Amino acid sequence: MWPKTELIDLLKITHPIIQAPMVGASTPELVAAVSNAGGLGSYGGAATAPAKLRSIIRQIRELTDKPFGVNLFAPAVEAYQLTPELLTKWHNELDAGPVPEPIPILGPFVDQFTVLLEEKVPVFSFHFGPAPIEAIREIHAIGSIVLATATTVGEANALIEAGVDVIIAQGFEAGGHRGTFAVPYEHGLIGTAALVPQIADAVSVPVIAAGGIMDARGIVAAFALGASGVQMGTAFLACPENNIPEVYRQAVLKCKDEDTVITEVFSGKPARAIRNRFIREMENNRDKVLPFSAQMSIGRVLYQTSAQQSNPDFVSMWAGQGAALAEALPAGELIEKMIQEFLAITASLQLK
Ligand SMILES: Cc1cc2nc3c(=O)[nH]c(=O)nc-3n(C[C@H](O)[C@H](O)[C@H](O)COP(=O)(O)O)c2cc1C
Repeated sequence: MWPKTELIDLLKITHPIIQAPMVGASTPELVAAVSNAGGLGSYGGAATAPAKLRSIIRQIRELTDKPFGVNLFAPAVEAYQLTPELLTKWHNELDAGPVPEPIPILGPFVDQFTVLLEEKVPVFSFHFGPAPIEAIREIHAIGSIVLATATTVGEANALIEAGVDVIIAQGFEAGGHRGTFAVPYEHGLIGTAALVPQIADAVSVPVIAAGGIMDARGIVAAFALGASGVQMGTAFLACPENNIPEVYRQAVLKCKDEDTVITEVFSGKPARAIRNRFIREMENNRDKVLPFSAQMSIGRVLYQTSAQQSNPDFVSMWAGQGAALAEALPAGELIEKMIQEFLAITASLQLK
């Protein structure tokens, strides 16, 4: 039923629908539900300590015997120098205790990567650039596949150069962090409909469209644009299997088309999130934003406390421009619905 099968064959899946790896939202249950439904479930492992990552991979394997992916971030340089007065003010307001010291909450990359290799994860995916060429050789040596995100044609070419097997073309609409790694992030703000065909023309490997794809209409469009599959994050944010706080889930379900914005204030790197008080006030104090990922680290207690108090003001609610279309369905049902709708749309598009 799918117009292109190279990606399906490569990943050994039934449907070319990838549930995006999402730090802070993906769970073994979500990953397994998607893989069991014939898509590719993916776990966002960048902020998971190596030993925990190993147990999560094993948990996924207990829940599914189908292929799945794990995603890591390219290692970041941590730096910290500014005084967090605003965070102190908000901690006092929420009675959240002292502002924590920044800690490295990502990685350590090499140890995480070693776990993925030892556990023979079928699909490795990378954000913020490719893994080192040597690492990609090691992944290929165990027979696994490498996916990585590009936000420009130049980045797609750089990923191919590094040995990546499949390009995820991430458009401007996407929720979460911009994957831009080779140009200033403003240069990588290209919409999915413009980016996917340009990358598809430039590379000979399968291209996955990501950003703003929420249902079968988006999947049909992605194929028409030259993609061989889709990666969807925001569409899975209202599924019961993920672990986002209830206040975040409700914000996704209430979100309108104009309610998201790309901002650096939660983590120190540009990411699309649902507007709230933290973004509004922090954007007016941009000189107080720490570099990635120190900002994410120093804000962690505020984000968690706000969520525990069912207060959306200070929660990092990453989501894409299509959030208004999210449906609160179990992931397997969501995939089944998208497949039925894909069949109906493609049938209705047949030329008479
Ligand atoms: C909550 C959230 C967390 C995300 N975390 C990651 C991540 O850890 N790694 C990654 O490669 N992409 C991450 N992304 C980006 C997705 O891979 C993908 O580019 C994006 O979800 C596609 O756009 P959509 O949200 O409109 O579907 C995240 C997206 C969201 C919404």
